[in-house]
Amino acid sequence: MDFTLTEEHLMIRDAARDFAQTELLPGVIERDNAQTFPGELVRKMGELGFMGIMVDPKYGGSGMDAISYVLIMEELSKIDASASVMVSVNNSLVCYGLEAYGSEEQKQKYLTKLATGECIGAFCLSEPEAGSDATSQKTTAIDMGDHYVINGTKNWITNGGRAEVYLVIAQTDREKGHRGINAFIVEKGTPGFDIGPKEDKLGIRGSDTHTLQFNDVKVPKENRIGEDGFGFKFAMKTLSGGRIGIAAQALGIASGAYELALKYSKERKAFGTEISNHQAIAFKLADMATEIEAARMLVMKAAWDKDQGNNYDMSSAMAKLYASKVAMEQSVEAVQIHGGNGFVKEYHVERLMRDAKITQIYEGTSEIQKIVISRGVLKSIK
Ligand code: CAA
Repeated sequence: MDFTLTEEHLMIRDAARDFAQTELLPGVIERDNAQTFPGELVRKMGELGFMGIMVDPKYGGSGMDAISYVLIMEELSKIDASASVMVSVNNSLVCYGLEAYGSEEQKQKYLTKLATGECIGAFCLSEPEAGSDATSQKTTAIDMGDHYVINGTKNWITNGGRAEVYLVIAQTDREKGHRGINAFIVEKGTPGFDIGPKEDKLGIRGSDTHTLQFNDVKVPKENRIGEDGFGFKFAMKTLSGGRIGIAAQALGIASGAYELALKYSKERKAFGTEISNHQAIAFKLADMATEIEAARMLVMKAAWDKDQGNNYDMSSAMAKLYASKVAMEQSVEAVQIHGGNGFVKEYHVERLMRDAKITQIYEGTSEIQKIVISRGVLKSIK
């Protein structure tokens, strides 16, 4: 067992850290207040290779491994989780989904642009009545011979207004249940495809979250991903990797809050000494450091499983379940260590605390991760 990162990994992590400090930090509070999408930063992240981190260079990607992906996600998320969710969805739900399961034509046409940051993508699974219960798709895709006609509503779609390429999950044959679901590539601007207003959210306020409407949207047959009926498996397989990205985001939120709290504890004085000299604060820091390190091990293990070609359904679910809990609990502690200042926006920790909550909800709630883990655990006993 080797816990050391390679030189290349360290360089990638440092590049992401520099970018986060120099490009994401300025304006992060203003973007959160005004709910502004960091659109101009997409091009810069594309130039750094952050939009197609694991994509083969022949499709415009960086050809890096999943360990690099989580290192980048952690660093971006320490500063701006609104920017990092855009990166995560584009990388692990859209680019990975297309690279692993798309046709060569689909890869040439869409993946090459998504991987370079020329455009971004969105993953459209959730519906008003199909969040956790993802097989209950109400959106339909009727087979009309040479094309499909899509009707329905998708909710809480990250990158919903800014994306150019949408991967849409819909029911083609209701009789077949989840085996009658398909995944389609839908381009922005297709007639009948409408984007609702941006959601006003508790956290990740800069990220671009919308409801989407599909009214008789014609999609060519060649835009279906995989064989007829592969759509639900496509969503599940893709989400397993997505959960590694969100686990790394949660890790970044937790470690970002911890780093701020540690620094503050060495500066702030109370009762005649720095507050880090009070055991009440020092023990909080000890707990934070320990839990964050444990979360990091789970996140790295899930990424390593992916890189090794091992099944990562369970390890990604464990990483997301645990890292999101740590993000929530430790960002609250970071606010507590900051006292009154923690409640004020300019100290950043209140934003990290608000951003942490979504990591326990999207790409499968914590309860869904427990379903995945418990099924895996029970299957392991004959
Ligand atoms: N890989 C491949 N196939 C899988 C799979 C996986 N990881 N998980 C399930 N499947 C297959 C099953 O084998 C089964 O197929 P067969 O019957 O042919 O064997 C089929 O999928 C249905 O599986 P289940 O019977 O387990 O289905 P279920 O109804 O019990 O639900 C679930 C499973 C795990 C709860 C699933 O519904 C789920 O993950 N729900 C949460 C959805 C989710 O994560 N949504 C996030 C939205 S996307 C998002 O948030 C993005 C964003 O913008 C940030």
